Parts: sequence; C-alpha cells; structure tokens
Amino acid sequence: MTAMSVELEIRPVKRRDFLFVATRAVAAVGTALATWPLIDNMNPDASVLSYSSVEVDLRPIAEGQRITVRWRGGPVFIDHRDPARIAQAQADDTSPGLIDPAADSSRVKNPAWLIIIGVCTHLGCIPLGQSDQEPRSEFDGWFCPCHGSKYDTSGRVRHGPAPRNLNVPSYEFKSPDVVRIG
Ligand code: FES
Repeated sequence: MTAMSVELEIRPVKRRDFLFVATRAVAAVGTALATWPLIDNMNPDASVLSYSSVEVDLRPIAEGQRITVRWRGGPVFIDHRDPARIAQAQADDTSPGLIDPAADSSRVKNPAWLIIIGVCTHLGCIPLGQSDQEPRSEFDGWFCPCHGSKYDTSGRVRHGPAPRNLNVPSYEFKSPDVVRIG
C-alpha cells in the first residue's frame, strides 16, 4: 500500500442511517474500507490500521447538530453539543442510572464534541437520534430500535439490554476545526 494521498469529497446524502459531510481520507483509506472484511480476518498490523483514518472538517456542523461519518465501514456519530447538552452530560456523571459508569470528561477531548461509534453495544444495531426527526431517548441521547436500549448525551447506556456505553473511537484534533478519526 503506498502513501499516496487521496481526496474524497462526499456530498450530503439523504439516507436513513448516514448523513455524510465532507471528509478527507488519507493514504488509500478507500482501499482499506473496501477490503475491510479481508483485512479484519487477517488481523492487520499497526501499519495497515494506520491508513484507516478519516479527517472531518467540523466547521459545517452547527451547534446542536449531529452528523454521521463512515469510518472503517461503520458509522461514527459526531455531536456538536450545545451548552445544555454538555451540562446535562456532566450532571449525569453521578446518576445512579448509569449501567456502565463513566464520567463525561473521560469520553470527550473537548466537551463541545462528542465522538462515538454509532453501533449499539447489545447486538450491533445503529441507534436512532442523529436528527430531530428520529426518536431519541428521554435522556436526549440515542434510542436503539432493535431492543430498546437508551443512551444519554454522553453516549452512556441508561437502559438495557445494551451492557456498555457506546464506544469512543481513537481520534485527535488536528486543529480546532479538524478531527482525525482512527
Ligand atoms: S441491538 Fe440495540 S438494543 Fe439490541
């Protein structure tokens, strides 16, 4: 695999589960995604995995908006949390209703940006709640339509059967406006 850079400009697309924004994939990430099942079976080393990253321009994402990007063939939710959501997430740190207790601060690098893998930790459905038109949990988070799990504004599970919080992928802010996932 070469280190050739590839620019992918993806226009917003109306689909049930994915709202894509412009992303910039680096170094043959498209190839890595297309061959993911094969790579997964081969248990790739770090040099292969390092190509499986995507950069997201955060500037078009309005405060309060949630968008989904594709990473390693699956959805990653990015929530540009407004102050009310941030306050709620932090206030719930000590809630007795947490099934998988974790402080909100341990799940974000910037409180304004929650970045989580959009796959239910029960059996892998994609939770709803990315748009205002979709049902959300009463915790203003996500609702899994398969078996009813509910997540809060930090992506923490508040109602099962899901056993764990929505996972946080590896990511870093390359600048205040650009995040690199993977
Ligand atoms: S897959 Fe989400 S609750 Fe079962």
